[in-house]
Amino acid sequence: MTTWAADKDVPLIQNVLGYESQSLNGAWNYIVDVQEEGYYDYRMNPTRWGFFQNAKPQRPEDLIEYDFDKSPTMQIPSDWNTQDEKLFFYEGTVWFYKQFNSQFSTLNSQSERALLYFGAVNYDAHVYVNTQHVGHHIGGFTPFNYDVTDLLKEGVNTVIVKVDNKRHAEDVPTQIFDWWNYGGITRDVKLVKVPAVYLEDYNLQLMKADAKAKNREISFSAKLNQPKAGEQVTLRIPELKIEKTFTTDAEGKVAGIVTPSLRRGKGEAFSLWSPENPKLYQVKISVGVNTVEDNIGFRTIETRDKQILLNGQPIFLKGISIHNEKPNGGGRANSAEDARTLLSWAKELGCNFVRLAHYPHHEEMVREAEKMGILVWSEIPVYWTIAWKNPKTYENAKQQLTDMIARDHNRANVIIWSIANETPHSPERDTFLGNLAQYARTLDNTRLISMAMEVTGASNYVNRLNDNMNKYVDVVSFNQYIGWYRDVNDAPKMKWEIPYNKPVIISEFGGGARYGLHGPKNQRWTEEFQENLYEQNCAMLDKIEGLAGTTPWILKDFRSPRRVLPGVQDYYNRKGLFSDKGEKKKAFYVLKKWYEGK
Ligand code: GCU
Repeated sequence: MTTWAADKDVPLIQNVLGYESQSLNGAWNYIVDVQEEGYYDYRMNPTRWGFFQNAKPQRPEDLIEYDFDKSPTMQIPSDWNTQDEKLFFYEGTVWFYKQFNSQFSTLNSQSERALLYFGAVNYDAHVYVNTQHVGHHIGGFTPFNYDVTDLLKEGVNTVIVKVDNKRHAEDVPTQIFDWWNYGGITRDVKLVKVPAVYLEDYNLQLMKADAKAKNREISFSAKLNQPKAGEQVTLRIPELKIEKTFTTDAEGKVAGIVTPSLRRGKGEAFSLWSPENPKLYQVKISVGVNTVEDNIGFRTIETRDKQILLNGQPIFLKGISIHNEKPNGGGRANSAEDARTLLSWAKELGCNFVRLAHYPHHEEMVREAEKMGILVWSEIPVYWTIAWKNPKTYENAKQQLTDMIARDHNRANVIIWSIANETPHSPERDTFLGNLAQYARTLDNTRLISMAMEVTGASNYVNRLNDNMNKYVDVVSFNQYIGWYRDVNDAPKMKWEIPYNKPVIISEFGGGARYGLHGPKNQRWTEEFQENLYEQNCAMLDKIEGLAGTTPWILKDFRSPRRVLPGVQDYYNRKGLFSDKGEKKKAFYVLKKWYEGK
């Protein structure tokens, strides 16, 4: 394993949107490098003369067999599959190149730093700034950043990214998954200016209601990027009349409790975040003279027996599953607008909850949902047959979990961290997932942990959930496909045995339909078949004791290489309630009506 001494990894910065930044989005040149000629020599050893050198002939006889500046361009952020039709099915290496004049090249590096930030790159990324290797990142759905202050120069700078989305058994996700393996620099790229001593992380959470406590209490903690003692960190939440200064300890950390001082008599109330009232408070956190602003909501989430309690009140999660794909016609979603469109479709359905499957979606998706009053289930792609025994695979999954929680742990609407989907039972799997669940709690003990399980034993219409992971989760969730992978006529007869005193979420159910295809309700792929399937399933779900919510599969038809039926699927999974063009199928109205009754 080649290591690069000069790597510039720094922990993921909290709330990157709170800092001055220079966007590097836009046109990037790219070179498709099927055999990684730009990285390995003909003996498959990493070469020093790779494309990252961005070499140009100096003399007429010089042999340079690539030229970024003469190579085609594509818009970043995006996936390459929908940008260049020759790359629709492509899985392999593509090199990306961007020239830029840095707004931060004249920084006083003693007092300020510049971070190069990527929202996500699928899957394996090597990053070079001015031909220097700054870092190697794996995992296609979480952000990462590098301190490139010392590499930036006046005038023209270059950033080169080698992106490889080939699938391997030891990866997360592993070799097979039912979504399109969109490759590329799929989310925003920016240079971020930060003070030399900055807030690497901070956390604000409403403490669970304590009947004895006169006022609600908020826990606050923060960590600087350096283990500096004696630094002043001031928290201000003007609307709650909170202003408190803390002093960092030897690790550069602060922690404490703050209490809103509101004069109820004066109609000042502490407004808790909820779907009906997605209240966000402006929060300012200062380290010395530097201040970061954020908008944070306050709410509590917990379970009591088979109930999920939001702000102490039972809630039924009227959800829908969503893939991180553009609303119309495929391609990775990556903007606030994409998010608002998809989430407004969920709102039309009557949803107060979405399952962002099967990997962390772009940050705007979570933040727009927070503004729209939509609760979120966020998940890492530990999906199907992961290499449970491989320690590298575990470290990879753990890192993706760390980064998912690091990015979104201040979002009030995120209530469930999911660590897996439909994983086959085995002792190795149990150890892997058990460790992940416990690790997640060390990172965030204020939210619920779950995973999408499967019902393995069904006989005589009795479906019994039997999963060792039940003891590690707060919410027992499972996928079931009565009506699609099992006969719809069985639905009325089905009995469900879920021997755990925990809330139940049906994290997937559904069936496919080609929009506009009509026929008898027992004819697959017709809208009537899907409509009937939803009617039968909703009635069946009403009988499941302890059902606290559901996220049917799925909001919209989405691209999948596993769906090849001509004239019906055409590389789309057709289980959407909306077509890939946003057209509502008949089943949409069945679920909407069912949610109106909830
Ligand atoms: C599975 C899986 C999904 C998949 C769906 C389907 O349950 O979790 O990722 O797309 O079923 O078969 O359509």
